Amino acid sequence: MVLGTQHATGTLQSGGRPVAQPMQETLLEALQQHLAMELNASSAYWALAVWFAERELRGFSRTFKEESDQERNHAGLFADYLIVRGQPVALGSINAPKQVWNDIEDILSSVFQMEVDVTTSLNQLYALAEQSGDVRTTVFLDPLIDNQTASEDEAAHRLGRWRLCGGEPAALLILDAELAGGKAGPAKLAD
Ligand SMILES: [Fe+2]
Repeated sequence: MVLGTQHATGTLQSGGRPVAQPMQETLLEALQQHLAMELNASSAYWALAVWFAERELRGFSRTFKEESDQERNHAGLFADYLIVRGQPVALGSINAPKQVWNDIEDILSSVFQMEVDVTTSLNQLYALAEQSGDVRTTVFLDPLIDNQTASEDEAAHRLGRWRLCGGEPAALLILDAELAGGKAGPAKLAD
């Protein structure tokens, strides 16, 4: 069975997929950079899962491992989308994640900022897609932006809860137990 064009050397090539709408180069590069950002976020969260596991804080560790899995899945969504559009999935290098932290405040503030930066990147992608009249991409991004706002909310909630505790070790154990029980989301007033 032949799965695409092959060089005389036997290297399997991609490129057989028809392209319904060409993608503007700047938008393509921005999508590829965003995919790398998601992989870096996954790596950063995984390092935090390790950091908390080393300190017996299993709820935080579990939460950040789940976040890591979600970020890798987000990268998968971008890879899938680029393939759907017949575009190359160029993977950049993944940065070494930060593993040395001053305190919990430092970590939770950094996590919140990381989520804000991802939102900013998604918003920039959306603007680029609009500028180039690429409606397929704006439709692809819509649910991701909605989801990202929820991620910001959760990160802000975790930091707000921690600040409420005023750095008390006993309170940290309570927060950790909340996270371990999967009951740590922000309050919701609508059904
Ligand atoms: Fe993400």
